[in-house]
Parts: sequence; structure tokens; C-alpha cells
Amino acid sequence: MKDLIEGLESRPFIPTEYVVRLARTPWERAGYHALRREVFCKEQKVFAQDDRDGIDQTAIPIIAACCMAGMPDRVVGAVRIHEPEPGVWRGSRLAVQADHRKLGRIGAELIRMAVSTAHGLGATQFLAQVQEQNVLFFRRLHWKSLGAITLHGLPHHDMQADLSRYPPHGLEQTWLLRPQPRTRQVA
Ligand SMILES: CC(C)(COP(=O)(O)OP(=O)(O)OC[C@H]1O[C@@H](n2cnc3c(N)ncnc32)[C@H](O)[C@@H]1OP(=O)(O)O)[C@@H](O)C(=O)NCCC(=O)NCCS
Repeated sequence: MKDLIEGLESRPFIPTEYVVRLARTPWERAGYHALRREVFCKEQKVFAQDDRDGIDQTAIPIIAACCMAGMPDRVVGAVRIHEPEPGVWRGSRLAVQADHRKLGRIGAELIRMAVSTAHGLGATQFLAQVQEQNVLFFRRLHWKSLGAITLHGLPHHDMQADLSRYPPHGLEQTWLLRPQPRTRQVA
């Protein structure tokens, strides 16, 4: 029993419930920009101080937040979508906080919310410039490469989503439950 308690105590707490939704409130938008800075400035060093640009004036911000007691608590995922020309939508600044990656399909759900939202708003094409190390991730999510490009001095691919896989859902938010880690049997 002592071992079991020690084992549980040494495991960091990771929430099991997430909400993915359009960022509307000030705390959601503040968390969205803070996460983008953490990932694209501090971690990846793609930008120096701030990654904001002109697209942010018209883009729709989308977040994933982990929940405590059923309530959204902290922003741990971000993406934005915008429509540079009629019918053509783009996604960018996809980021999941490092502790929450490869846990419960948070990145995949952010992409689903991004593309399905744009589809519901009339998208006939949905495109993104994807860092090379994530091309396989997007391929598995029914995106195809339109060709290799260089962006911010880094290798990327222009990619396009298969819209038939992302039907419009018109939802403001979706919920995501992370699979539980295996625990030791007591008896
Ligand atoms: C890319 C990123 C958003 C993925 O988010 P994530 O929450 O870890 O992804 P998910 O958990 O939804 O992954 C879904 C599946 O794809 C896999 N996957 C995740 N990243 C992958 C990658 N780069 N290449 C291949 N597979 C990947 C996961 O293991 C998971 O597989 P499974 O279904 O077999 O379990 C995240 O790693 C990140 O924020 N990276 C830093 C910023 C960045 O690179 N942004 C994208 C710029 S294009």
C-alpha cells in the first residue's frame, strides 16, 4: 500500500477533461496569446518577443482548455482560422502546451474544430503551411501536401484538408476526454 501511495504521489497531475472552443472571453484570449508566445517564441524561437501579426485582426481564435471540476481552467491548446479570399480559409499558429502533447488528441481536435468551423462558414478550401516534422501528423488527419516551401527560414509544406472528412458542425465547443493511464491493481 505504501508503494502504491508513493507511486501515485510521484505522478504529476494531468487533467482528463478538455474543452475545445472558439475563444470569446478575455481570459481565453489572454491564455491563447500566452500559449502562442510560449510555443512559437520561447520553445521554437520562430519569433523573438511576440508572434502576433496582421492576420490576428480578422482571425477567429480557437482554444483547448483543460477542465477542473468540469469548468475550463487553463488554456493548453490554440489555433486560429481566417479567410484571406472568399471561400478560401487558412489555419495557423496550431500549438499544444508541451505537457499536454500526444495525450488525448488535443491537436487533432483543434484541427477538427478549425476546419469544421470554417466549413460551416462556407469554406470551399482549407489550407495551412505545416512545419515539416508535422506533415505526417496532418496526412493522418486527411490532409495532402501541395508542395514543399520555406517559411521563417524553416522547411514547411503547403497542405490542404479533405473537407469531406470535416463536415460543418456549427458547434461553439466540443469536449474531449483523455484516456486514463493504467494504474496498478490493488487486489
Ligand atoms: C503538432 C502538435 C500541435 C500536435 O499536438 P498533439 O496534441 O500532441 O497531437 P495529438 O495528441 O492530437 O496527436 C494525434 C496523433 O498524432 C500523433 N502525432 C502527434 N504529433 C505528431 C507528429 N509531429 N508527427 C506524427 N504524428 C504525430 C500522436 O501521437 C497521435 O497519435 P495516435 O492517434 O496514434 O495516438 C504539437 O506537437 C505542438 O504544439 N507542437 C509544437 C508547435 C507546432 O509544431 N505547431 C504546428 C506548426 S505546423
